[in-house]
Amino acid sequence: MKEKILQIKNDAERELLDIKNLDELNYFRIKYVGKNGALTEIMKGMREVSKEERPAIGSLINDVKTYIENNIQKLELLFKDQELNKKLLNEKIDITEPGINNDLGLFHPIQKTFNKLIDACVEMGFEVVCGPEVELDKYNFEMLNVPKDHPARDMQDTFYITEDIVLRTHTSPVQARVMESRKPPIKIISPGRTYRVDNDATHSPVFHQIEGLVIDKNISLLDLKMMLSKLLQILFGDETKIRFRPSYFPFTEPSVEVDISCPNCKGEGCSLCKRTGWMEVMGAGIVNPKVLENCGIDSNIYSGFAFGQGIDRLTMVMNKIPDMRMLFENDIRFLDQVK
Ligand code: DAH
Repeated sequence: MKEKILQIKNDAERELLDIKNLDELNYFRIKYVGKNGALTEIMKGMREVSKEERPAIGSLINDVKTYIENNIQKLELLFKDQELNKKLLNEKIDITEPGINNDLGLFHPIQKTFNKLIDACVEMGFEVVCGPEVELDKYNFEMLNVPKDHPARDMQDTFYITEDIVLRTHTSPVQARVMESRKPPIKIISPGRTYRVDNDATHSPVFHQIEGLVIDKNISLLDLKMMLSKLLQILFGDETKIRFRPSYFPFTEPSVEVDISCPNCKGEGCSLCKRTGWMEVMGAGIVNPKVLENCGIDSNIYSGFAFGQGIDRLTMVMNKIPDMRMLFENDIRFLDQVK
């Protein structure tokens, strides 16, 4: 019996050296001190031990059991500690690692140009008014002095939805809507999307304009020139000069094309301004009295000026963009570069 117990202790001692993890330790526990383990089996045999030997054998069994259990406890602590350390090491955060980059959205180059213009106009006291893109022929043409058979209709190649409904070809119909529904003084701008049947490097079927309208008593061409000078200087710099060239629009009389001294070469002549030193930026004029009357405004008391600026070409010039279609392809590598 004694030899058997010492043999068990020997075996256990040897096996303890090889235990590498909690699973193996558990297996060891079951093998020696579990319900059917080696030591438990030995204890069951105590009945056959003589009375004289019993105390000595009993105490030997207890010593071996304590020895085994103490070792199990020690190893258990060790392995649990090791496991925790491994977990901590795996979950360690490297605070020097670069962060995950979240790209922020930006305004589209066209919206940037709009924002600059709108900010400048609002600073000068203009109110911003918007109108529908699917527009009645009445507002887009007729009230602006372009009747159905008028040759001026050829100036704007139009998408017709029905005979009386169009995709607006310019932002000018907002003028008519405002004049029809309000009394002067009026001082508004109207930015927005416009449509014409056109598609090449300098024309897109969808493009953008900003319309301006001022109606009050005693408004003249001089007021228009002063106001546009100021506006274009805010946009292109204090030294910017403007000039008017005679033009024709059915809704203004007289009508002008407005040029600015080239912001790139300051009027010296460069490739951007085709060596002329000037750049055409908008159409403008004194509101035709016929348009005032069409909208119910007495042209004997009131007069006014209007202007219409294309945003797309302006954005191209300001950012030296060679092809208008680049603005609408939505290539973020390109859009990101436009300041
Ligand atoms: N609507 C014109 C166009 O798209 C531009 C324009 C010219 C607007 C003269 C005006 C204006 O308000 O007075 O070609």
